[in-house]
Amino acid sequence: MMERRRETYASVGAAVLLAGAILLNICFILVAMHNQGGKQLHLNSYTTESVFPNSLIPYDEHPYDAQLTIEETLHYGPTNDEEWLTLFPKGGGYVRLGPDRRLFRVTMFHQLYCLNIIRKAIVDASWINEEDRNTTTFCFNYVHQLSLCAASTRLEPVKQLTSGIGVNGLGMEHTCRDWSLVYTSLEQHVK
Ligand SMILES: *[C@@H]1O[C@H](CO)[C@@H](O)[C@H](O)[C@H]1NC(C)=O
Repeated sequence: MMERRRETYASVGAAVLLAGAILLNICFILVAMHNQGGKQLHLNSYTTESVFPNSLIPYDEHPYDAQLTIEETLHYGPTNDEEWLTLFPKGGGYVRLGPDRRLFRVTMFHQLYCLNIIRKAIVDASWINEEDRNTTTFCFNYVHQLSLCAASTRLEPVKQLTSGIGVNGLGMEHTCRDWSLVYTSLEQHVK
């Protein structure tokens, strides 16, 4: 009697162990599926604070092959408000993305916005209140840091200028991302 009972306990134990193992496996699979689904959900919904695509145009679809020659221009002078406004697309460079239509600004337009703030401060500092001064200081740092980010090592020859020996960078070709693609992409997003 004792022997048989022990045998029964043993097989019940084995069955419980096996069932437990199977259950554990199912749990792992469910958790794995949930995690994967969760990840995809976040990427699509753009709702999580830090999870969203890092660029409006994926970098591999935005070649670094545009040429820009620095030239002296009378356009975009510091007092030309109207021309500066033409640099901004409809919506000011903001874009709504994802099913929740989360709002973003594209860095290129944040840079231009900041340059425009600095321009206005140079032209007429009298309108600046404390808040604007803070914005201008912020913008100054922002443009400074993004110049470091671009880290252009284009060589500009030192030459005789009317003001003496120096560099003005005029006539130098720079290789850039095609900024017109950014405008095109925004037009598609901002309707
Ligand atoms: C401007 O910045 C200063 C220093 O960071 C801060 O104390 C002040 O509250 C800011 N003013 C406004 C109006 O945001």
